[in-house]
Amino acid sequence: MKINLNLRKINNLIEDKQFDLLLEKGLKFAEDIEKDDAIGFTDLPETDRYIKQVKTVIERLPEGIDTLLLLGIGGSALGAKMVRDCFADRLTKELIIMDNVDPETIHHTAKRINPEKTVINVISKSGSTVEPISLFKFFFNLFELELGREKALKRIVVTTDSVKGNLRKLADELGLLSLGVPDNVGGRFSVLTPVGIFPLEYCGIDTESLLKGALNAKRHGNSMAVTGAVIDYLFYNKGKNIKVLFIYSDKLYRFGEWYLQLFGESLGKRVDTKGNEVNLGATAVLAKGVTDQHSQVQLYREGPDDKLFAFFKIKDKTDVLIPDSFSEFDGFSYLNGKTFSKLIDAECEGTMQALEKSGRPLILYEIENIDYETMGELIYLFEMQTAVCGYLYGINPFDQPGVEEGKVIAKKLLGYY
Ligand code: PA5
Repeated sequence: MKINLNLRKINNLIEDKQFDLLLEKGLKFAEDIEKDDAIGFTDLPETDRYIKQVKTVIERLPEGIDTLLLLGIGGSALGAKMVRDCFADRLTKELIIMDNVDPETIHHTAKRINPEKTVINVISKSGSTVEPISLFKFFFNLFELELGREKALKRIVVTTDSVKGNLRKLADELGLLSLGVPDNVGGRFSVLTPVGIFPLEYCGIDTESLLKGALNAKRHGNSMAVTGAVIDYLFYNKGKNIKVLFIYSDKLYRFGEWYLQLFGESLGKRVDTKGNEVNLGATAVLAKGVTDQHSQVQLYREGPDDKLFAFFKIKDKTDVLIPDSFSEFDGFSYLNGKTFSKLIDAECEGTMQALEKSGRPLILYEIENIDYETMGELIYLFEMQTAVCGYLYGINPFDQPGVEEGKVIAKKLLGYY
């Protein structure tokens, strides 16, 4: 594994016996879900079938495309966004992700894209989510007006359930290029299905290496995932209602956004698996190192002791030297010859030690370097950790009834029913 979990001083804050017991339970659960056909995310690292399907679709798309417009929301957008922003320098096409219905952004995007050189990928597992569907109607109309119906239809790829839903119906009726989302993989666990693989592969990302990393995590990462889950569980029970992800990497910042959804939707639940009202789940928040040291750390050190911290640090990174400018001036000379890598690491260590001095619980993920395989490892590791944590909580981490109700009310307000 290119990721290492450093428990720092957390061992002093937990009782060994209880920890070991939970670890054992969690590992057993991880093993069980890997064999359970109803839970599909654990199978994804081992199959190249989605990459093959995606490549067949790509071969059928028109030549001369330089932009992919992804229309999706939540689990249908956040995975691609995370990978896109991490590897922005390797993209061979622009990947625009529309996961909001702010009319100003829609207007601006409509003005800047060239339909002739753009493919639309509308993604909705259910095939009925109002945001991607309304965006699809809007952009298809734009393409049709500009290119004519036949040409516009050739620039559409639909990603949705393989058999059911209105979007599947539309795709089949119009003979659109389409990809299926496996039934047993929920939206927020779906980045390694065609939901993420199509847009990423089409825009130049090596998705085989992403899967390779995920497979590595599946083979060697379960004990780390379960340890993370046990820590989340134990500290939540100790009143740490907030989990702060402190990410010392700009490239990895969107991983935090992806994880916030995975964590929040999977673990924030009203009832447990026996139907008892429990209303549980910690709130994950995101902090960027070093930037948020100057905005949040005062609160984190001296405010309420209700937080568990997970730090993320990249060991091997492109480095930049701080040169010996203003050498005649003494005040800044301590920085001469240091690198920005040294600076960011020192600041990360300083913040961790300061929090530890205040008795705040923290763990550190040390990441060897950022590449496709590490990203794949992160994806699988945190999906498994979230699933195991749900099991320890005694809730179902794979549903999201609280989201569904808002969707229904919004549609009623629009006159759907
Ligand atoms: O994780 C989830 O299930 C959700 O966040 C969904 O991805 C989101 O609500 C979008 O749903 P759909 O893909 O059905 O449009």
